[in-house]
Amino acid sequence: MRHLLDVMELTPAEIDGLIATAKDIIARPEEYREKCRYKKLATLFFEPSTRTRLSFEAAMLELGGSVLGFSEASSSSASKGESVGDTARIVSGYADIIAMRHPRDGAALAAALKSDVPVINAGDGGHHHPTQTLTDLLTISREKGGFEGLTVGLCGDLKYGRTVHSLIAAMSRYAGVKFILISPEELRLPGYVTADYIEVQGIPWEETTSLEEAMPRLDILYMTRIQRERFASPEEYERLKDSYVLDPAKLTAAKDDMIILHPLPRVNEIAVEVDEDPRAAYFRQARNGKYIRMALILKLLEEAERDPAKMPVPQEVEEGAECPNARCITATEQGLRPLYRTVGGKRRCIFCDTEI
Ligand code: NCD
Repeated sequence: MRHLLDVMELTPAEIDGLIATAKDIIARPEEYREKCRYKKLATLFFEPSTRTRLSFEAAMLELGGSVLGFSEASSSSASKGESVGDTARIVSGYADIIAMRHPRDGAALAAALKSDVPVINAGDGGHHHPTQTLTDLLTISREKGGFEGLTVGLCGDLKYGRTVHSLIAAMSRYAGVKFILISPEELRLPGYVTADYIEVQGIPWEETTSLEEAMPRLDILYMTRIQRERFASPEEYERLKDSYVLDPAKLTAAKDDMIILHPLPRVNEIAVEVDEDPRAAYFRQARNGKYIRMALILKLLEEAERDPAKMPVPQEVEEGAECPNARCITATEQGLRPLYRTVGGKRRCIFCDTEI
């Protein structure tokens, strides 16, 4: 059975297929109105969400299916101490497909290992957010016509911003792409993202703390929120929260056809005056989320029909000591053995990718 935990589980050809389906849904919505009749999507949200959860629900409803679920951990048995694995196993008896968001890195894999239906990772801690990336890619495809040769500036919280990790992974596979990573020193991109994606593909990249310096070279500016909920210290968040504010004055240095993306929600990192600039694509981006999620639900349900067997524990792994990442699902999930795989000579936790 196919899940979607990390966007890299999709080949570029499959991503092209999802984008083509999403565009067809936009052009001919009536053709899709009955496609998921009698099918149910469960949305298990252990962490707040507006766009992701509601666009998943709207997607299933527009396909003719129904939705069930919860929007906060406090209204689920997680508040009684139920594990993610047990929750997934139970819910997979009630629904045909699951979209799950959880504050712990690797929680989506823990759920998939126990689920009898496809699990879509709707965000696992500061780790991955593959459906946001699919949303971003559909937006880039619609706005720029393709992915090749683009200089992409990613600005803000590159350390905890899971949307950035998944987008970099996916964009690294296209020719001529270049990354400019704009963040405070303390919020630089995690080493595993740089090593596994950017360096493996030989993509040119640079790091800077200056948005102004990078601006004139960018084809895409991907702004992000400083992820307050992931900081161990509130003082550290206070010190970094106003690091970048995109306003009309800064945009005067940008290309006329640059597009501004943001997974949203924004706090103050994009001034509201920017919203009416034609280059501001973030509200169009949020709309695209529904269409690409429709395409993804269709694909995973079709594949589950062909291959309903439960996901096996990955083969190439070994057991070992505890994962050092305190935010990893292995730190809290009862009965979950820490498992590792060796990538480029380094041992990594299979749940959160942290190096051992
Ligand atoms: C993002 C997320 O949850 O990671 N939002 C989203 O899904 N659209 C970004 C964020 O919360 O800053």
